[in-house]
Amino acid sequence: MATGKGGTGKTTVAAALALALADDGTNVLLVEVEGRQGLAQLFDVPPLPYQERKIAVAPAGGDVYALAVDAEAALLEYLDMYYHLGRAGKALDRFGVVDFVTTIAPGLRDVLLTGKVYEATRRRVRGEFVYDAVVLDAPPTGRIGRFLNVNQEVAGLAKVGPVRTQADSIMKLLRSRQTAVHLVTLLEEMPVQETLDAVEQLQALDLTIGSVVVNMVRRSPLDDDDLALAAKEKLPIAEIAKGLAAAGIGDGRTTAGTLATEARDHAIRVGLERENRQRIDALGKPVHELGLVPDGIDVGAVFDLSEELAEARSDR
Ligand SMILES: Nc1ncnc2c1ncn2[C@@H]1O[C@H](COP(=O)(O)OP(=O)(O)OP(=O)(O)O)[C@@H](O)[C@H]1O
Ligand SMILES: [Mg+2]
Repeated sequence: MATGKGGTGKTTVAAALALALADDGTNVLLVEVEGRQGLAQLFDVPPLPYQERKIAVAPAGGDVYALAVDAEAALLEYLDMYYHLGRAGKALDRFGVVDFVTTIAPGLRDVLLTGKVYEATRRRVRGEFVYDAVVLDAPPTGRIGRFLNVNQEVAGLAKVGPVRTQADSIMKLLRSRQTAVHLVTLLEEMPVQETLDAVEQLQALDLTIGSVVVNMVRRSPLDDDDLALAAKEKLPIAEIAKGLAAAGIGDGRTTAGTLATEARDHAIRVGLERENRQRIDALGKPVHELGLVPDGIDVGAVFDLSEELAEARSDR
């Protein structure tokens, strides 16, 4: 599972993780549940139907499939599978029952979405698991606890019977060592705070935290000594001005002053990033850094990020 504050890179990291997990001869399923077609956009393919589609071949040779789970379609699939309501299910859809069930009862939506993910992890053909790994581009930190715990709530409502059995099986898988929740964050106050809160919440629910992925990391062009000078506004302005003049850049002194102000702001930001990094390190979880890709994310960049994650994986 990849969760994190909105916009920190959950979808990007989930895709990179799926590619990193796909070894030669294995199949990985990459799933999205937010109805946003984020995976199709990322891999630059037409919108995904409610159907698993091969979306990429990983550098190591494995296949990555993608699926956009749709709660309505999942409900019809369920009714068909468990109650053989093929046609009748479609009729329910026409009467708006399916809409009613999936939009009026948001908890039920999550039951259907997690149920589909569970089904994919268990599916076998001729005794062999179809997928070696399933990667979920999960809801954001603000909703992840409820999303992952919804089957616990179901188990509390249904004391016996098939619904209870299914809910128990899903919670068992989610709490087993087979499942890990990875938290994607930036080195900024809010995403880091949400990460810390989510770790606490998920651990209280007995869910396993995998690692923290620090995304969009920028390296400072200044070393620690220069950063310290810049923060104290003690950079040697005259010397910088001389350098600028020698390079034929603008009005040396004014430009040097402007640069020093920028350097101060930069040094302050680097200081804050380091504080945020320490807060993450204090969690005691594995941390992986992914660099900021200057030109934005395209399919090639996802492959590059996946190699960074694959290296981190083989180092451990
Ligand atoms: N390492 C990176 N370098 C540069 N840009 C990145 C990086 N990771 C993600 N991005 C960009 O940041 C934006 C947000 O990323 P993404 O969509 O993966 O985040 P998200 O957490 O899934 O967002 P949402 O909460 O909207 O689902 C996208 O434009 C993506 O291309
Ligand atoms: Mg996303």
